[in-house]
Amino acid sequence: MDHYSTWTRKLRHRVLAGSCVAALVFGSGFAAWAQDKALPAGDIIAARKTLMSVIARNMYPLDEMIYTGKINLPRGRGHADSIAAMMQAFPLLFPVHTNAWKPGTADPASATFADPHIWEQFDFFYKESMAASKYAFDASRAETEAQFRKNVQELRLTCDGCHATFQKNN
Ligand code: HEC
Repeated sequence: MDHYSTWTRKLRHRVLAGSCVAALVFGSGFAAWAQDKALPAGDIIAARKTLMSVIARNMYPLDEMIYTGKINLPRGRGHADSIAAMMQAFPLLFPVHTNAWKPGTADPASATFADPHIWEQFDFFYKESMAASKYAFDASRAETEAQFRKNVQELRLTCDGCHATFQKNN
């Protein structure tokens, strides 16, 4: 538990401050849905990996805007809007039967790097996804460069923090 504690504390703070979406969405239905094994695990894993790749493709231009200081607000808002929608869908692609990470996996294209801790701390994982979605949404609606910058930076911290906690490195 120790390796989580700093991040967890930071996040709780952020989640409390940031996410009302989570409160609305995270509810009774999910646990029951997660038991449904009708869909093949490999297909769901491939879908969430694709979703994450496309999220990343939309994030790189935003990182670049922050890095160079050259903010193109209309373009940045569009990318952020896409990320917001995709981050909202992302945690729905983690039903329990897709808890399938194995050490030293041979095929990085199809194998999952989702840490089994996700399923032990699913509500935290879910709230993190919603926090990322909310930062992206707020960036997509930013009226000033300062608002945009702040939300994109928080979003980037949320990506990196979730990966540090919930993504395997091999
Ligand atoms: C709430 C947790 C969480 C958040 C937030 C998150 N990710 Fe991820 N990300 C994951 C997990 C888990 C995986 C591994 C998925 C798998 O292999 O099944 C992953 C995988 C990835 C991958 C590898 C995809 C592939 O091809 O296998 C990229 C790139 C990525 N994330 C980028 C991002 C970016 C950019 C953001 C922020 C805009 C972000 N992620 C936000 C949890 C998160």
